[in-house]
Amino acid sequence: MTTDHIERDRHRRQLALVEAGYDRMAESYLASKPPLTPDVEALLQHLIDGLSPDAPVLDLGCGAGLPVARWLAERHPITGVDLSARQLELARANVPGGVFIQADMTELDFPAGSFSGVLALHSIIHVPREEHLPLLRRIHDWLRPNGRFLATWPLSAWEGTEASWSGWGAPMWWSHFGADMYEELLGQARFTIEIAETLQTQDETWRWMLVRNAVREGG
Ligand SMILES: C[S@@+](CC[C@H](N)C(=O)[O-])C[C@H]1O[C@@H](n2cnc3c(N)ncnc32)[C@H](O)[C@@H]1O
Repeated sequence: MTTDHIERDRHRRQLALVEAGYDRMAESYLASKPPLTPDVEALLQHLIDGLSPDAPVLDLGCGAGLPVARWLAERHPITGVDLSARQLELARANVPGGVFIQADMTELDFPAGSFSGVLALHSIIHVPREEHLPLLRRIHDWLRPNGRFLATWPLSAWEGTEASWSGWGAPMWWSHFGADMYEELLGQARFTIEIAETLQTQDETWRWMLVRNAVREGG
């Protein structure tokens, strides 16, 4: 086996672990989610500011669709992407009118300028971190000029597995940098940061970043 094969095999196993983990823990994860706070709702509102009602929005790692995909679907056509079949089953029931696709977000291939807004909340943390910059560059391409991207980032870097995440009975794997690094990576992917704020919801603290694709058409 070449180093490339070993690396690809390792990624496949990590992906399978994440997929199986969310299939098994979808309900437990959903039960742990806080309702939308005014801070988060304000960020979602910024994400869609100025968009016409028919402007399409993409939710990467949409989970069970609550509370965010449902909030967005009440305002815009929404496409949700997730690795986990169980999460998507819940999302289809929770978000009537949404279009849901089972896929690895790093394998997606949308035409340039397909979406007016993209979001990835608590999800890119399960993608191997060496793939984060290429993924951010692709998100930039999928956005129309001046489109916005909203994401959450952990405050510090970590990569590893927990044998039973939150005691929910299945292993989970994470891979991420710390929030400061994402400011750099988003810049490298040609995004302009509009809002960066640290929010605490229940017992978790995340760095929320709303960025804009400020590149002009043809630029
Ligand atoms: C922590 S949950 C977050 C769900 C939702 N965005 C939220 O904030 O409530 C992470 C979701 O990302 C999905 N996910 C993880 N890795 C993924 C990948 N490579 N491609 C697509 N979805 C992925 C998981 O299946 C899971 O539903």
